[in-house]
Amino acid sequence: MNKPKRPASPSGRYTITTALPYTNGPIHIGHLAGVYVPADIYARYLRLTGHDVAFIGGSDEHGVPITIKAKKEGVSPQDIVDKYHAIIKKSFEDFGITYDNYSRTSAPIHHKTASEFFKTLYDKGEFIEETTEQLYDEQANQFLADRFVIGTCPKCGNEESYGDQCENCGTSHNATDLINPKSALTGNTPTLKQTKHWFLPLDKHEDFLKEWILEGHKKDWKPNVYGQVKSWIDDGLRPRAVTRDLDWGIPVPVEGGEGKVLYVWFDAPIGYISSTIEWAEREGKNWEPYWKDEETKLVHFIGKDNIVFHCIIFPAMLKAEGSYILPDNVPANEFLNLEGNKLSTSKNWAVWLPEYLEEFPGQQDVLRYALNANAPETKDNDFTWKDFQARNNNELVAIFGNFINRVVVLTNKYYNGIVPEPSEFSQVDEETLAAVKAYPNVIASSIERYRFREAGQELMNLARLGNKYLADEEPWKVIKVDEARTQTIMYVALQIASALATLCEPFLPFTSEKLKNILNVSSSDVTQAHSIENTWNDISTKEVLLPAGHQIGKAELLFSKIEDETIQKQLDKLEASKKANEAANKTVEPQKETITFEDFTKLDIRVGTILEAEKMPKTKKLLKLKVDTGIDVRTIVSGIAESFTAEEVVGKRVTVLVNLAPRALRGVESQGMILMTETPEGKLVFVNPDSGNEVANGLPIS
Ligand code: 2FM
Ligand code: ZN
Repeated sequence: MNKPKRPASPSGRYTITTALPYTNGPIHIGHLAGVYVPADIYARYLRLTGHDVAFIGGSDEHGVPITIKAKKEGVSPQDIVDKYHAIIKKSFEDFGITYDNYSRTSAPIHHKTASEFFKTLYDKGEFIEETTEQLYDEQANQFLADRFVIGTCPKCGNEESYGDQCENCGTSHNATDLINPKSALTGNTPTLKQTKHWFLPLDKHEDFLKEWILEGHKKDWKPNVYGQVKSWIDDGLRPRAVTRDLDWGIPVPVEGGEGKVLYVWFDAPIGYISSTIEWAEREGKNWEPYWKDEETKLVHFIGKDNIVFHCIIFPAMLKAEGSYILPDNVPANEFLNLEGNKLSTSKNWAVWLPEYLEEFPGQQDVLRYALNANAPETKDNDFTWKDFQARNNNELVAIFGNFINRVVVLTNKYYNGIVPEPSEFSQVDEETLAAVKAYPNVIASSIERYRFREAGQELMNLARLGNKYLADEEPWKVIKVDEARTQTIMYVALQIASALATLCEPFLPFTSEKLKNILNVSSSDVTQAHSIENTWNDISTKEVLLPAGHQIGKAELLFSKIEDETIQKQLDKLEASKKANEAANKTVEPQKETITFEDFTKLDIRVGTILEAEKMPKTKKLLKLKVDTGIDVRTIVSGIAESFTAEEVVGKRVTVLVNLAPRALRGVESQGMILMTETPEGKLVFVNPDSGNEVANGLPIS
């Protein structure tokens, strides 16, 4: 167990932000594990411990990915963002992500906030205004910003780097830095054309960034975050353009900005501020302390590809503006893979949240628990459906669910659901109750150090403690001999169940709600007015969590076993994606050169029967066949052994090119060729003489 250590916010005020997802597709498990699950655990925990929390999110609706998707689907960018914003927002709600506000960057409040922010920096002289040469696609008649251009990353050599960022090494660069750039619109090599833009001189902020991060956050920021930031700073920072020649985005609000928009990575993080303003206006609050009071803790939850924007560019913007606080921490996660492969939206290699919610109704907590247990906190990790099943069956069902079920069933059976009066506590009872009291601090310590996996495991350890207590004390045996002792055992077990109901909320929020209802204690559901309420801190400080005489409800299963068929269905779905992808990516061989009819008539094609077949030793592909061609019985060596076994082909009627010049293959003379072809899926098949009458005597009928 960890030593409790609490670097709490002095004001108790927290502004928690989550990366704004691009509205060009639904949310998948990679987003959830990397950003939204840890952020929601954090926000729920802080609220439970009495902090003032603004948990802020929203959709990132500008940027080239949206425009590309719209072009692909032949609709407007607004249509795309309207569609996915609604899908994303609803799936977050249904999954139990408890935003105080979920906004969108196409909202007027955001346009206003981002415009004003730009204008402030402009007026303060914080930008460099410069006409430079930028990549231009003559055919598409447009500048190639960001994802409109693909080329080789100057840092790692990845040939598919985007204009603004390489997804392979995470480097953020200018489009003109790409080697061998190509337009993503036409595939053409771009030309260079002059255009005016506004640049944020990151180099000017280098000293401040060094002092603030490299000296100030060496110890408390995650090593993966600190390391990335250090390497960028060590490489030397350069001015970054914060405007673009695009028509989708927030118009540049200064003279000369006509026809240009703010760079999406300039406007998106300001979305955190505008979403906070939207929330405060709705709730009748003042937003400013959440962004301007030095005592507020600002925490950005993001994935590792967003580190440079949140640790260098956005802080430089905030610093340049002058009135804002800087992030206290940016606990970025690494990436989650799926069944051994990189998650990919375009390849449909993902578990999509809306689909999960539909296919696993009422099982939000299982996914939340499995993702947290396997979160890519320190390195990339793999999600497998087998692990998901095991987390559910072996931990949630067998440990947590089993403990609660036994406690509730026995309390109902022995005492009609009334918490029994304990008598004297044994040493084990005392130790168990003391151990329970330690858990809020232990779990809190992990959460406050952004170790959510560890925190989740500690919660499960509390359920393990409960299970072990019951297994050791065996109330079902003791009841036969000692009524008073049984009452004490059940009383202690009920205290553990009650502690679990409160402490599991950040990790298993739907379960917590259900369990509180079963135990008949207060929940966040305002329609339930129970007299007993146990806060996080109460678990450590209150002498009694569930008093004797309190009536609890009937047992209800918290979790149910997930069967192999359910998992197989998901694996089959992924396999289907893989196949569809392979088929889509398969490059069809171009047609060979035209031949004349005379050329064709030279081919002597007959129907034959394979009489014998054997695998050629020391080869992977070759079968040695004896074929009755109708003229004679001859040997043909055929390269089909990877698709067919020798046994399978014996007796098969096949189409044979009999006048192919004999040639030696691995020392065996082959006297002809069995005609084969490939299906669109890449499967090798025989040109079957019995499948129709199209071919007779080797010549087309027509
Ligand atoms: O990487 C992304 O998906 C971005 N849309 C994240 C933006 S985070 C913030 F700055 F808004
Ligand atoms: Zn790279």
